[in-house]
Amino acid sequence: MSNKFYETGSNRATKVNDLFATIAPRYDLINDLQSFWMHRWWKKRLIDLASPRPEETALDLCCGTGDVAFLMASRGARVTGLDFSQGMLKVAAQRAEVRTGAGTPQFVQGDALDTGLASDSFDIVTISYGLRNLSDWRQGLREMCRLAKPGGRLLVLDFGKPDLLWWRRLYLSYLKWVVPRFGRIFFQDADTHGYIHESLLHYPAQRGVEAEMRSMGLEDVKVCNLMGGIMGINQGRCPIAKSFTD
Ligand SMILES: C[S@@+](CC[C@H](N)C(=O)[O-])C[C@H]1O[C@@H](n2cnc3c(N)ncnc32)[C@H](O)[C@@H]1O
Repeated sequence: MSNKFYETGSNRATKVNDLFATIAPRYDLINDLQSFWMHRWWKKRLIDLASPRPEETALDLCCGTGDVAFLMASRGARVTGLDFSQGMLKVAAQRAEVRTGAGTPQFVQGDALDTGLASDSFDIVTISYGLRNLSDWRQGLREMCRLAKPGGRLLVLDFGKPDLLWWRRLYLSYLKWVVPRFGRIFFQDADTHGYIHESLLHYPAQRGVEAEMRSMGLEDVKVCNLMGGIMGINQGRCPIAKSFTD
């Protein structure tokens, strides 16, 4: 089945940008509804694993409306959030305005595949529900490595593929048949949320990302499966000698 927001090749980014321009104003609300509010817990788990410390520098790629960036900033890290969608960044900026308390991230517009940011700059580089959307997810990982300091932590949170067959089938059925209804209800377009199922089919998820992290020479490579693998968090650490990323 084809989805109008999913395309392989050079037009991929344009389609993804169109998608997020459409859904940005309702993105946070639908995230809560479709995940039964659980995405908040999954993101908190990501931050616990990243364990940002005060004054550390952190970059959240594909930051969207800023959930992960805000969480890291609330732990005292100096956070940059990067995204290419003006619509998503607008919501992030609105949230930053009404925010009180601990630090506010800096939000910048850019391409996660070619950020133009300086190499070896960040103690932590995260990407949450972003890697799956890139036209070249391996290049996305390489860019994360380039940006991390030697010894820096890389973390990827995304939809996963459970190992257990019946659980995988049940969950993929939910993504295929139920989640598109949110698109139909809010945007009169099932494709906006049918995109999640379609893009996941083409993404290697936690096992593929784990294998790639190992082949890139990352250290301490681990996978944390949430709820039987419906969500996966990949972790790796850049070696002190980072020549492999050059
Ligand atoms: C599913 S949202 C995730 C947002 C946020 N990280 C979260 O967890 O809620 C995916 C985000 O990736 C962004 N994105 C996709 N491809 C990108 C690229 N090549 N460069 C920068 N941002 C990109 C989209 O604009 C969108 O905001």
